[in-house]
Amino acid sequence: MKTYTERYAETLTQKLEPSLSKEAIISLIEVPKHRGHGDLAFPCFQLAKEWKRSPQAIAKTLAVQLNDPLFTSFQAAGPYINAFLNREVVAQETLTEILQKEEDYGAHDFGEGQVIVLDLSSPNIAKPFSMGHLRSTVIGNAIAQLAEKCGFETVRLNYIGDWGTQFGKLIAAYKRWGNEEAVKRAPIAELFKLYTRFHTEAVQLPELEDEGRYWFKELEAGNEEALSLWRWFREESIQAFNAIYSLLGVRFDSLNGEAFYNDKMEPVVTELQEKDLLEESDGARVVRLEASIPPALIKKKDGATLYVTRDLASALYRKQHYHFDYSFYVAGNEQTLHFNQLIQVLKKMGYCWAETMEHIPFGMILKEGKKMSTRQGKVVFLEQVLADIIQQAVQNIREKNPELLDQERVAEQVGVGAVIYHDLKHHRQNDVEFSYDDMLRFEGNTGPYLQYTHARALSILRKSKLSKPVYKEGATVTDQMWELITQLTYFPGHIADAFEWRDPSLLAKSIYKIAQCFNHYYAHTRILVGGDQEQKIALTKATAIVIKEGLRLLGIQAPEEM
Ligand code: ARG
Repeated sequence: MKTYTERYAETLTQKLEPSLSKEAIISLIEVPKHRGHGDLAFPCFQLAKEWKRSPQAIAKTLAVQLNDPLFTSFQAAGPYINAFLNREVVAQETLTEILQKEEDYGAHDFGEGQVIVLDLSSPNIAKPFSMGHLRSTVIGNAIAQLAEKCGFETVRLNYIGDWGTQFGKLIAAYKRWGNEEAVKRAPIAELFKLYTRFHTEAVQLPELEDEGRYWFKELEAGNEEALSLWRWFREESIQAFNAIYSLLGVRFDSLNGEAFYNDKMEPVVTELQEKDLLEESDGARVVRLEASIPPALIKKKDGATLYVTRDLASALYRKQHYHFDYSFYVAGNEQTLHFNQLIQVLKKMGYCWAETMEHIPFGMILKEGKKMSTRQGKVVFLEQVLADIIQQAVQNIREKNPELLDQERVAEQVGVGAVIYHDLKHHRQNDVEFSYDDMLRFEGNTGPYLQYTHARALSILRKSKLSKPVYKEGATVTDQMWELITQLTYFPGHIADAFEWRDPSLLAKSIYKIAQCFNHYYAHTRILVGGDQEQKIALTKATAIVIKEGLRLLGIQAPEEM
């Protein structure tokens, strides 16, 4: 369905073409800050330049000429023409559409026939699943869901950090101090313990570093003992990661990590050489880029390949394998230079599809204003964070709704939803202050507040006798109803915006606003008594549908009761 902005633009276009095109008019239309100024406003400044008349005079003349049954009036206010939508018509159209389409409401088709691959999460084995990886996981997943809602086909790739010199150190550490049972019990924590112990003891015992190097060489050479330890560490860690993913409700289409590209880098180096792009610099091999970007290091002096070498191989493989139209990398701000170099090198190689690769960066998670560090002792394990928050959610639920069945399951949905929403409500590039209290509040801009609003709407629907309400014309559209309906009409546009800006926070804001308007409406209206029963129930149901779908797109479940 067309948006009301588009429909206002169409009415204006009839009078304004050829001076302004429909597209130009759409981009000029605003939503007035105050309701008294109508629902949509068109500023006449641009026309004033064209027509060499004052914008005020133009607004005055045009306002009386416009005529469209979708609007009850057009009023000139200074240089603006304010349009007032016909509330009954909009209520009828919007609610009918939502009740018919249900969770398909807000879908777009502009992505149809196109594939987006997303590189998300990508934690490193032997290091804990960091808060940064949590951000990559939930932001990446939400962008993938938004892309699907816009018609794209998506492929979620988890580029696990499962290769590198850290495995030599880990094997060395395990051989000295390791214990099979301990690793099996808590793989992520135990491997991390071994890894940090290696680093602490290496200060006193420099030969440890040699052992680490030795084992990494063995690993690269295919030594069976080294390989089987590596395989085992990898398996155990992936199982532990999977427990986190299943709690977060995120799935992947591929777990091809860094190791998968071991045999795919040499062909890239050869290709770079053949294309005459490799230069020598202090014995290392580099690709020189534009002056503003430092050269990309492809091979070290000792022949070792680098992060960018591997990502070149993975980009080429992904293009061949998935034929993507877009390729997104959801990774922290600090990797901006890396992805810049990656894209530039591919362009120099003659791959113009490198233009369709995008780094989607995000801010850090802070604790009391400081970066949550992975340095020894200060590490926060995500499993622990999730377990703690679910525990607190259980307590909250017991206090609020002791009768509730299935408390454990609901607490999991609420706790996980709280963590995800807390992350996604911030503009992606901003840093996020980590706070359990802020996540779990039932009031204000939190996941539980949205889930609670949804559950409240469902409880009203359960009490009503109308199982399939239909919105019939003739109801009085009160101001509170109108605010809510207006927000519901914005939802499809906000989905497209959130996708275009690769920013789930735009969707989070949209559902938060809807929930606020619904609670305001609920506070002023006795939904289950008095006139216009069916319309009020229809509005309640439409609201529940939209909040649930909005939460789903963010990766958050909406319990029916809580
Ligand atoms: N494993 C990397 C890290 O933790 C993130 C990988 C991002 N993806 C990529 N293709 N480089 O920093």
